[in-house]
Amino acid sequence: MIIDGQESVTPAVLAELKRAPDARLREIMSALVRHLHDFAREVRLTEAEFERACAYIAALGHKTTASHNEVVLMAGSLGFSTLICLLNNGNNGQTETAANMLGPFWRLNAPHTENGGSIVRSPTPGPALFMNGEVRDQAGRPIEGVEIDVWHSSPEGFYENQDDKQADMNLRGKFVTDKDGRFGFRSVKPAGYPIPIDGPVGEFIRAQGRHHYRPAHLHFLFYMPGFKTLISQVYVNDDPRLDSDVQFGVTRALVGNYVRHNGPAPAADVKGEWYSLDYRFVMEPGKERLPRAPIQ
Ligand SMILES: [Fe+2]
Repeated sequence: MIIDGQESVTPAVLAELKRAPDARLREIMSALVRHLHDFAREVRLTEAEFERACAYIAALGHKTTASHNEVVLMAGSLGFSTLICLLNNGNNGQTETAANMLGPFWRLNAPHTENGGSIVRSPTPGPALFMNGEVRDQAGRPIEGVEIDVWHSSPEGFYENQDDKQADMNLRGKFVTDKDGRFGFRSVKPAGYPIPIDGPVGEFIRAQGRHHYRPAHLHFLFYMPGFKTLISQVYVNDDPRLDSDVQFGVTRALVGNYVRHNGPAPAADVKGEWYSLDYRFVMEPGKERLPRAPIQ
């Protein structure tokens, strides 16, 4: 169609979209066009700024590889990942949830580990951590047989795949809940870590004068047929960056009570300070679904 002036562009695009046979595509893209055009009008986007925006989006793609996704990093840095998570969990945003971002470091095929076993697979200095978890349904009943993936960074802030000093699958394990819905493991207390800032996301972070760290956390993925797969992170309560996570992941529900101890530990070889964490996860009914592993 022939465009009469700036005010006729939006209706022209929406009229074409109306013809798309896929109803959901029509809904999503029509809303996107309305908001995008309104956004340009609101900020009076200049031609130079538009060129810069296009180059920026292209750079997000160019920076993305098989083991690094700059687009996902940007979504987190805009709070978009957390928004999508909270809109789709906790009874669609109505109640508290343990759901959180998957992050870029989940791997398939973590070693099966007995409950109470250690996921420290090569010498990893740092205070011992004993985690005891339980998994319940929304009525508070324990769920037996839930498969749980656990993964986290070292006390130096590196995942095993980023660190030559760590054995393959160090600080990763797969557990199954017992008849009381319980699981547990021994590890070391994780540390916070920086996100990569050598690409367009770094440029954006620097432009705001922000730090580029995530507070320390454990990652969990709970898989059980008949339940919505629960992806979670439990953050360390004494991390100084708890309220300034560069990826906006920390929710009140996910600040864990990591208790510091300085006496006899659950394992005789632990001397000095150690930590414990107890946490109850609630799974919602729904469809089980494994996400695509971000790294192989
Ligand atoms: Fe992480």
